Amino acid sequence: MNLDHLPEITEKESGWGYLHPTPDVLKIFSDLGKMKQLKPVKRIVEIGFHAGHSTTYLLETFKDAKLLSYGLSSVSGPNGVKMMSHYPGGRLQISIADSRKLNPIKHVNVDLTYIDGSHKWANVSNDVMLAVAWGSRFILVDNCETPAVKYISDVILGSPIKTWQYEATWAGRTTTNVMNLYEARHNRFRAAQVVE
Ligand SMILES: C[S@@+](CC[C@H](N)C(=O)[O-])C[C@H]1O[C@@H](n2cnc3c(N)ncnc32)[C@H](O)[C@@H]1O
Repeated sequence: MNLDHLPEITEKESGWGYLHPTPDVLKIFSDLGKMKQLKPVKRIVEIGFHAGHSTTYLLETFKDAKLLSYGLSSVSGPNGVKMMSHYPGGRLQISIADSRKLNPIKHVNVDLTYIDGSHKWANVSNDVMLAVAWGSRFILVDNCETPAVKYISDVILGSPIKTWQYEATWAGRTTTNVMNLYEARHNRFRAAQVVE
């Protein structure tokens, strides 16, 4: 995975709020890239663009994919511009938008939606339901160690098909975080019917 551009794009970041490129985190994306059932991954939507880390891991893992990412933070705008010029040709589109205001029938036939926006109950419900409505084949949900995130994802999507644990350290405190992958084949069929 080529991460050479990340230090320059994210040089002003404090280290807060994103997936650090630790061996455990990079293994998640390496595992995803090897999963035959995911292929082909051509269309990715991300909710929760921050400084560009997870966006980079996804684009470097799925080289044939185009990615549309929604974010809100103060660094999303400037970092988003730099990220889009690093991935030219329309591979990456960043939209500064609140996921609670997005159109549920805007995206059809998304291969993978990655959810890592706000982890509050109402936001996670909104984001998981959006991913379903967009016809996502697979949904990757970060921070499933948070009870609301895991509960809502499991209720709407069923059991995860794969789960990873990784450690994250911020301000001297280390937490064990959980990333879950869900398959949403049946929901995709229903979403396609609604759009037709
Ligand atoms: C935990 S960070 C995501 C980090 C990212 N996955 C990474 O590793 O690079 C969550 C981001 O979601 C954004 N966010 C929070 N609520 C949102 C919403 N309703 N719509 C879009 N983005 C949101 C926050 O501003 C923050 O930048």
